[in-house]
Amino acid sequence: MTDVLSRKATIKSYFQQNASEYEKHVGGTSSRLAAVALSFLPLSSYNSSSHILDSASGPGIVTKLLLSPSPEDISVPGLPVSPRPRVTGIDYVPAMIDNFKAHKASLNWDTAEAFVQDSQDLSRFKDAEFDAVVMSLGIFTLSDPVAGAAEIYRVLKPGGHVVVTTWKKRRAVDILQGVVDTIKPDSGLKPMYMPPEWLSKEKLISVLEGGGFPSDHIKASETSPDWVCGSEEEAVKGLRSPLWTSKIWEGWSSEEIDRWDDEIRKQLNDEEKKTGTMEMSAWIVVGQKV
Ligand SMILES: C[S@@+](CC[C@H](N)C(=O)[O-])C[C@H]1O[C@@H](n2cnc3c(N)ncnc32)[C@H](O)[C@@H]1O
Repeated sequence: MTDVLSRKATIKSYFQQNASEYEKHVGGTSSRLAAVALSFLPLSSYNSSSHILDSASGPGIVTKLLLSPSPEDISVPGLPVSPRPRVTGIDYVPAMIDNFKAHKASLNWDTAEAFVQDSQDLSRFKDAEFDAVVMSLGIFTLSDPVAGAAEIYRVLKPGGHVVVTTWKKRRAVDILQGVVDTIKPDSGLKPMYMPPEWLSKEKLISVLEGGGFPSDHIKASETSPDWVCGSEEEAVKGLRSPLWTSKIWEGWSSEEIDRWDDEIRKQLNDEEKKTGTMEMSAWIVVGQKV
């Protein structure tokens, strides 16, 4: 229990500290993943009386796709949803909700609202409140994911959908690990660590089943929302963002930090150097409440 609580506190302070870097560096990748996840929802059936929960919303990656025109590299029929549904964003990191609210103001999300709220606890919402709950790259952070899935089940309308996602392969993390192992071989550091079971669709499926979603109403798919940096230089820049390095470099000497960029370059393969793109793939699991 202490481990779960301290992991939760670590994740929370990590996102609080890095909220502003999150969208800048990984917003493209997480938006491409979320767009494919949203394509499994009956988007054309939503309207101004629909209500969608963007759970563990971060700065509102999912909400932005639902309510604002998509960037050029994303084309999902039905996005943005029109007429606009009501969208509620929740995240337990205040800095993320501040960023969500800044988007709400600048992008005129007149049907959106956002609260600082732990996604584990949906007690502020009534039974059968939502047409859809979207939790992209969030469910693996819950202290009790099955209880979290049961709460999602409770707040969905009968016939409503949940979409959850997790990583399958994270080349960027493999590169960070390679660099850490070269510069600090005995540190035991595991950047962006996720328990391996969470890199499987089976884990997502079993969590939704545990939460009450019937097995024959759960479907898994995968997608490859690669991290596209544009060039070797941009990839190196991306991989030295405080998003990754603020935690990794704690206690490192300036000599060790000075080696970082060169070691990143050594880890990048020829194709990655040529394109600045790192392979990322992800699982998407959709469940329907009966
Ligand atoms: C990897 S980001 C995903 C953000 C966004 N959903 C996306 O698709 O890019 C994970 C987010 O989950 C939030 N988070 C982690 N655990 C949470 C919890 N128990 N309750 C609410 N938010 C949580 C973090 O603050 C962070 O904003």
